[in-house]
Amino acid sequence: MKKTWKATSLLLVLMLFTAMLAACNSSTGGSGSVSVGIVLPTKDEPRWVQDEQRFKDALKDSEYTTEILFSQGSSAKEKENVETLINKGIEVLIITPQDGDAAAAAVEAAKKEGITVISYDRLITNTDAVDYYVTFDSVAVGAAQGQYLIDNVQGSGVPLYLYAGAASDNNAFLFFEGAWKTLQPKIADGTFKIANSSEAEALKDTAELTRDQMSKILGQVTTNWDPNEAKNKAQTHLTAVGADMKGDVAVLAPNDGTARSIADVFSTDGEVSSFLVTGQDAEKASIQYIIDGKQSMTVFKDVRTLVTDAMGIAIEILDGKTPETTGSYDNGEVEVKAKQTDVIVVDEENVKQELIDSEYYEASEFTGL
Ligand code: BGC
Repeated sequence: MKKTWKATSLLLVLMLFTAMLAACNSSTGGSGSVSVGIVLPTKDEPRWVQDEQRFKDALKDSEYTTEILFSQGSSAKEKENVETLINKGIEVLIITPQDGDAAAAAVEAAKKEGITVISYDRLITNTDAVDYYVTFDSVAVGAAQGQYLIDNVQGSGVPLYLYAGAASDNNAFLFFEGAWKTLQPKIADGTFKIANSSEAEALKDTAELTRDQMSKILGQVTTNWDPNEAKNKAQTHLTAVGADMKGDVAVLAPNDGTARSIADVFSTDGEVSSFLVTGQDAEKASIQYIIDGKQSMTVFKDVRTLVTDAMGIAIEILDGKTPETTGSYDNGEVEVKAKQTDVIVVDEENVKQELIDSEYYEASEFTGL
């Protein structure tokens, strides 16, 4: 039942998408050589290479002119990419900022040329030069990670290691907000004891954190979205604690790349008898980790939907229509109209159903399924 419904809705989305492409092909003459420019943050993380591939898949049968550029972790490169695309005559810019604040200058330059700006997955902050935001429900991502730890932990007084994303990424705050909201009552009641952040420990009775309070915690436990930094931090944390903070432990890891490197560190510590570790993105390497019992869960964000939403908005703009949105996000300067997508929790119980049966990945890409 459920599967049929999913297949039908996917088909409907695809049909709508194809219809929109067809409708716009006749009207995208434009003056430049590229109509829609896409700027993604880095090729160093499988998450964004995946987005590139999903954009290519979605666009392969259209005469639609798009170009995808990567910023390789640099806001300067990002600005350069946007300028290159402006010079190619784009009418719509789809962009995932490397740094939410720093990207303001790039999109303001685009706005000056009358280009419509769509923030993709990460919100560009503190500027009015963002028109739309397509995103997953990021607070729900963090809440799902926290809930997973609560649902799978045994007993009380369980050491909890907290890790977070880069403070330059607004999403890192949304993920942490969701996780904290869920975990905090269980920290306050003694189910968990915080192992690696004095700032979090000091705030353990505070149910809702301000951005400043979260910044303080992130200052101690950020991974900067870098698996190496995550690994080094995990090593330092395990070296610093006593035996009371080992045994059966729980780890809030913000995404798959950092989860795998943190898991590798925890699995080699003789005093850690077991650990639960969260993730997100359903990266292939983490799906294998889940199958192998080395990572507990991931939050699956179906990038196909995000691509369809972003391109759907772009095409409506080119077609002179007003795109439909489902809510809005405050970026510090304006309320940005947003389209939001739900997320799915995946662990070894449902990994096959959610990722293979849904045709997101092929079974042959994994071993031991
Ligand atoms: C994205 C995650 C990703 C992380 C690191 C976040 O903004 O939402 O999917 O893992 O950045 O690139």
